[in-house]
Formats: sequence, structure tokens, C-alpha cells
Amino acid sequence: MKKKNLIVFGTRPEAIKMAPLVKEFLKNDNFETTVCVTAQHREMLDQVLEFFEIKPDYDLNLMRPNQNLYTLTASIIENMKPVLDEVKPDYVYVHGDTTTSMAVGIAAFYGGAKICHVEAGLRTFNRQYPFPEEFNRQLTGKIADFHFSPTALSKNNLLAENIKEENILVTGNTVIDALLYGIEKVNDSDFKDEEIENLKTVLDFQKKIILVTGHRRENHGDGLIKICSALKTIAENNPDVEIIYPVHLNPNVKGPVNELLSGITNIYLVAPLAYPSFIWLMEKSYLIITDSGGIQEEAPSLGKPVLVTRTTTERPEAVEEGTVILLGTDTDRIVEESNKLLNNTKYYNEMSMLHNPYGDGKASERIVNFIEKK
Ligand code: UD1
Ligand code: UDP
Repeated sequence: MKKKNLIVFGTRPEAIKMAPLVKEFLKNDNFETTVCVTAQHREMLDQVLEFFEIKPDYDLNLMRPNQNLYTLTASIIENMKPVLDEVKPDYVYVHGDTTTSMAVGIAAFYGGAKICHVEAGLRTFNRQYPFPEEFNRQLTGKIADFHFSPTALSKNNLLAENIKEENILVTGNTVIDALLYGIEKVNDSDFKDEEIENLKTVLDFQKKIILVTGHRRENHGDGLIKICSALKTIAENNPDVEIIYPVHLNPNVKGPVNELLSGITNIYLVAPLAYPSFIWLMEKSYLIITDSGGIQEEAPSLGKPVLVTRTTTERPEAVEEGTVILLGTDTDRIVEESNKLLNNTKYYNEMSMLHNPYGDGKASERIVNFIEKK
């Protein structure tokens, strides 16, 4: 009898990081694999599904404008019941630290399936940072039966929480599987992409490109205002620099960013980019300023320095290796550090080394092999 898998995700980063696993399971005849999206995100999820050519079997379509954690959590748990009743999975796969991961984990536990946590064991050890993700990830770790850790460090975090070693596998991060798949596609001479063609007309690639993203809940309000103020100063003081900011659709981000940064000649505010255009642009960038988790993992593989607008990270590996700096949201520090990278070539080169602490592109294969032997 085939083992039954149910793979569930809801936001853009989960979709990017679960897509390679979906593909790997779908080509394996020992499994019957069903894909369910909560659609905690809508447009930003659909962009990923389209690029990776994934057609979900179930789409709960749960995103609401400016949704809150209470109703989103409740609606995910409630709407997962009929899916679990119908599919009756042996294994449910969730990813990372979102509301979808945590709530689907709870629902799968109620439904009696074995829970497989992809990207397990990352910790800041501070439940307020990132909020509510650190708590979501810890809770999912408590519910999970099998833990797929991207690095040895994340495995050690789980061992310290008395998780049995035989239930943890160090796999590398599936984001590198996705990135390598994406880069290969984008570099294929047959690949045509309207968004990339459009970026070529908008940006002057003779100049230094700074790529910016930001969406963390704990940076909403004051933090975001200070980041925008830094970007404005960097743009005004460096006419030879172009800043491009694909703005997250969360109204708590989109509203203030558009208000504070519109109309500055060398700042381009654009809608969230599809994955191929985003990785294409990362490769073309000089420097990345972000509070994103996934981008902290991808950028070292592309040799791009990253300034992280957070005070803590659950991904310390690249910080330790010196290609990622944690800055928080202090305006002066962001300006100072950016200026140093723009003007000091030696310093820039030291931070731009290519390395890959987060994976080798075979994480999904390792997960499938592990479950196959269960
Ligand atoms: C969520 C995750 C966060 C992850 C981020 C990735 C939680 C608690 N947060 O945060 O961990 O890093 O996604 O981007 O799970 N919206 C749209 N269209 C979209 C997506 C979002 O309009 O495609 C708007 C909606 O108004 C929505 C709001 O953004 O209500 C917030 O979305 P939500 O998923 O709750 O929070 P994020 O800040 O995106
Ligand atoms: N990304 C994208 N388009 C964008 C911005 C980001 O495809 O306009 C990708 C990026 O390459 C990374 C992921 O989205 O793989 C990160 O998502 P996000 O920053 O929303 O969430 P986080 O990783 O912080 O949870």
C-alpha cells in the first residue's frame, strides 16, 4: 500500500521552500501525495505556484485583507478538518514558523497523522522576536514526529529540547533546492520573462543596485519608519545608487512605505516580484537590505552581502561566517553600514564571498529517502 502524504502550506516563503519537496514526492511511486494550500497569502502564493507549476488538490482560500492572528489561526484549524477527514494522510508536512505551519500542525495532531516539520529547530530563544514566528516554530516542534533541520546547529537546538536524535534529520534547507532550480530555469536561453524585461528598462545596471524587502510584524510602525528614513538618506546621498523595493502586500507595510518613499528619483517601489525575477534581481544587486528569513539564506549562495533590519536571527550561520550583518532598525546604523559597503571595496569584497551554509540542493531528496524507510 502506498503511503499517503499531505503537504500543506500557505504563504510565499513556505510555497517556495515546499515546492521542491512536492516535486520530489510526486515523482516517487511509493507515495500518494496530496497538496493543500491554506492561501494565508493569495497573490504572493499564486506567483510561486505558477512558477513551480504546482496545482493544489485543495485550496482553502483563507486570506482576508489585513487579517489577524486569531481568526486566521481558528479558520485554518477548522478548515483543515474536512481535508484531513477526506485524505486520511499517514504523514502531514508543514514548513517553518507561520500561522499556517502551527495551525495545520495542531489540526494534523487532532487528525492522528504523523507530523513532519520541514525547516525545524531554528531558534532565537526569544518568543517576541520574531513575533509570532518563534513561538509558532517552537510549538510546531513540540507537535512534530519527524524534524527536518537545515543545519547541524538547528539539530542541536532540538536535541537540547530532548527531541530524540533518531527523529531528526539534517537535510540542508529546501530553499537552496528551490534557488538552484530557479537559477537554472532563469539562465536557460529559452526562458522569457516579461517582468525581467521590464526591470531591465526600469533600472540602470551600470549603477549599484540595492535590493530591499521588509515585512516583519515587530518592525511595523516605528521600525519601518526608521528603515524608510535610512533608505531615503542613502538614495539622496548616493546618486550613483538605485534602490529597488518590491513592497510586501501587507497594508501595514504597503501603506507607510508608499507614503514615505514615493517620488524619490532613485528609489523604485514595485509590487512583489515573481520568484524568477526576484532571484534574477538578487544576482544583479550590489547589496541587499532585508528582514526576510528566506533571503538571508539565499543571498550567501549568490555571494551578496546582506544587512538585516532585525536585532536577532534564528539563522546565525551566515552572521558567523561574516556575510550577513544584524543591524536592527536604527536609521544611522543602516546608513553608516550601507555607506561602508558602497565606498570601501576591500570591506565589500570580504563580505561578498560565495558560500552555502544552508544547503546543497538535495534537502528534498533526503527527506523523501528518510520517510521511505519509515
Ligand atoms: C506572513 C507570516 C510570516 C512570513 C510572511 C512572508 C505569520 C504570522 N506571518 O506574514 O512569518 O514571513 O508571511 O511574507 O504567519 N496580503 C495580500 N496578498 C498576499 C499576501 C498578503 O494582500 O498575497 C496582505 C493581506 O491584507 C493579508 C496581510 O497581507 O491579510 C497579512 O498577511 P499575513 O500572512 O497574515 O502576514 P504577513 O505579514 O504576510
Ligand atoms: N521573494 C520573491 N519576491 C519578492 C520578495 C521575495 O519571490 O518580491 C522570495 C525570496 O527570494 C525568498 C522568499 O520570497 O525566497 C522570502 O519571503 P518573505 O521575505 O516574504 O518571507 P520570510 O522568508 O521572511 O518568511
